[in-house]
Amino acid sequence: MPAVMRFAAVLLLLGLGGCYYLGMHGPSIRQFPDIHAGVSEDAECLECHHPDHPVGPPTSHPEFVGCLKCHNDDIR
Ligand code: HEC
Ligand code: HEC
Repeated sequence: MPAVMRFAAVLLLLGLGGCYYLGMHGPSIRQFPDIHAGVSEDAECLECHHPDHPVGPPTSHPEFVGCLKCHNDDIR
């Protein structure tokens, strides 16, 4: 997403008080590298994490796109 749009989205979120997901990354899939090896597509993630048929912990946000933007952080 272009930087200017990202900035606008951030302002919008702040305005709504929705700081929950803002700049806040979810748990990283690198905590479980064996399970997640070679997985890169959202559709693959949802095969195991969709709340209707979870194999792993279900996600509260199956409608999000780009799962790895928030779930591929280095483990600190
Ligand atoms: C905008 C960032 C963002 C995106 C995009 C995103 N997530 Fe998350 N995710 C989070 C955050 C923050 C949490 C921790 C808070 C929570 O559980 O809702 C989380 C938690 C989770 C959890 C752990 C739930 C638990 O109970 O332990 C799973 C599984 C998950 N996400 C899967 C996904 C999948 C699959 C996708 C893509 C369809 C996705 N996420 C997209 C931010 C994101
Ligand atoms: C083959 C099934 C499978 C696929 C595909 C898969 N996962 Fe997972 N995932 C799991 C399982 C099972 C766990 C739980 C591991 C454990 O707790 O030991 C897990 C754990 C997680 C967690 C950690 C939840 C927590 O509470 O710590 C996140 C986040 C997550 N997966 C996101 C993703 C994302 C994003 C993708 C796509 C890139 C993905 N997963 C693809 C099975 C899968």
